[in-house]
This record gives sequence, structure tokens and C-alpha cells, in this order.
Amino acid sequence: MSCKVALIGTGVMGQAVLRSVVEHTGADQVRVHDVRTEAGRKVAQEHKVMWAETVGAAGAGAEVVIVAVKPHDVSGVLAELGPVLTDSTVVVSIAAGVSTARMAEHLPEGTVTVRVMPNTPALIGQGVSVLSPGPHATEEHLGLVRDLMAGTGFVTSVAENYQDVVTAISGSGPAYVFYLIDALAEAAVLGGLGRDLALELARRTVAGAGAMAAESADHPVVLRERVSSPGGTTMAALAELDDRAVRAAVVAAAQRAWERAGELGQG
Ligand SMILES: NC(=O)c1ccc[n+]([C@@H]2O[C@H](COP(=O)([O-])OP(=O)(O)OC[C@H]3O[C@@H](n4cnc5c(N)ncnc54)[C@H](OP(=O)(O)O)[C@@H]3O)[C@@H](O)[C@H]2O)c1
Repeated sequence: MSCKVALIGTGVMGQAVLRSVVEHTGADQVRVHDVRTEAGRKVAQEHKVMWAETVGAAGAGAEVVIVAVKPHDVSGVLAELGPVLTDSTVVVSIAAGVSTARMAEHLPEGTVTVRVMPNTPALIGQGVSVLSPGPHATEEHLGLVRDLMAGTGFVTSVAENYQDVVTAISGSGPAYVFYLIDALAEAAVLGGLGRDLALELARRTVAGAGAMAAESADHPVVLRERVSSPGGTTMAALAELDDRAVRAAVVAAAQRAWERAGELGQG
């Protein structure tokens, strides 16, 4: 049976990517491998894709190999893949901070590489995936990867030198939003609401506002002004956020995240 796409690593993000790949190619074109054989086999069964016993067996003959292991495991996986790749195999990594230059150190000369930063809402098809081509990747290669990632949500591309910033915004961003949901729910409990209702109000408010911001042609500032009557409750809250420099804190937090991505990329 032919295998167009191999996936190495069937953890959280691997499964999100797998769903999208299967949607695009059909399950019979996909082979997966994970060192956690029991869990990996279960994922293969759930998605009705082929299981491979080794990294090499998964990658042999594949048109695209997607590496979805933790950053410190990437070099070992690439070293195992090297001998089984064809001249035209595209090697995709979703590992945070691992540059295509670092990937090339473990791959045969001239291997086509693409780096992708997805985020966890990809699990429900509402993610953001940002692609960067390695030195040998053409528009056609990027298009191929874009199609495979389409089921994860919004897909776009940037020059690789912006990937650390992308990691800080869309990669880590869902965690900042979950933090906001938790803080809002905590405030609701402080105001006397029961915990279940507090959490329901917080998560649905963030989901609704997020959907509105995504769909509306208006800038978020305009959307914010529409719910901020002069002298009203929302203005009082926003003034408090400004007094506490929350906007500056968000910018500083993102900046810290992209510095950290750079540090991880070195090691
Ligand atoms: N989670 C996110 O929000 C997010 C967002 C964007 C990008 N990413 C990137 O996505 C990658 C995967 O993250 P994740 O959260 O999905 O990790 P994960 O859940 O730990 O999944 C990785 C899987 O790969 C396995 N593995 C390790 N070495 C392997 C090898 N040599 N061959 C085959 N399988 C191997 C791991 O097994 P062991 O656990 O036994 O090592 C684990 O089952 C990371 O590089 C991360 O930077 C994550």
C-alpha cells in the first residue's frame, strides 16, 4: 500500500495534525509512528491509518514526513529518517524553536524542509498554523504542506526569522486567553456567583468576543468602543486595566515568550 504522508509523534499536536492530514489525503495514505507504541497504535486505529514499528519504516517512501515530537527529540528522529528519505521527500517539523538550519544538520544535503507553528485550537479545527519554507522549499512544497494543514484552521506563512514572534503570539496565545478566562471566572466568584456559572459566563464571553473579533471587519478598538458608554461600567473597568498597565504587561509577556523561543532554539 502506498504511503504519501508519515507522522512521527502521535501526542497532542500530532493528533491535531493527523486529523487534518487524513481529511486531505484519506487514511490509507498515512502511516504513523510513536515511541509510545501502545498509545501510538491506539491513535492509528482511531484514525484508521497505518502503524509503523520504527521511524524509518514510517518514513520510507513517504512524500511528506511530519515530525511532531518535542524539540529535544527532533534531532534523533531526523537522524533516523535521513537514510530512508527520497530526493523529493518534504520534511516538516512542528517543533517550537527548531530552525530549518538545525534540521538540515541531521538530514541529507538538499533535503526540502518546512517549519510549521500550529496551536492547540487546531484540535478542534479552529487553530492557526504558520508555515516557513526551508532553503530548498518551493512555493509548490509550501502549497502541499498548506493543503495538509488546512483542516487545523487558518493557515498562513512568514519568513522563518519571524517564527519566534509567531510562537509568542499564536503558538502560546491560547494559554494567555485561558488565563484571562480563569481570571474573569475568579472575579465572578468574588462577586458572589457560583463557580459553575462563573466559568460558563467567562468562557462563553471570551468565545463570543473572539468569534466576533474574527468575523467583524471592524478593528478591535472599534468593537471595544461600541460596548464602552461614556462614564459607564466598561469604561471604569478599562481605566482600571490601563492604570495597572495590563496592555504593557501583555506586550512584555509576548516579548518574553519570543526571547524564550530564541533561547530554546539555541539549545
Ligand atoms: N502543544 C502545543 O501547544 C504546541 C503548539 C505548537 C507546536 N508544538 C510542538 O509540537 C511538538 C509536539 O508537542 P506535543 O505537545 O504534541 O508533544 P507530546 O504530546 O509529548 O507528543 C510527542 C510524542 O512523540 C513521542 N516521541 C518522542 N521521541 C520520539 C521518537 N524518537 N520517535 C517517535 N516518537 C517519539 C513522545 O513520546 P515520549 O512522551 O515518550 O517522549 C510523545 O508520545 C513539540 O515539538 C512542540 O514544540 C506544540
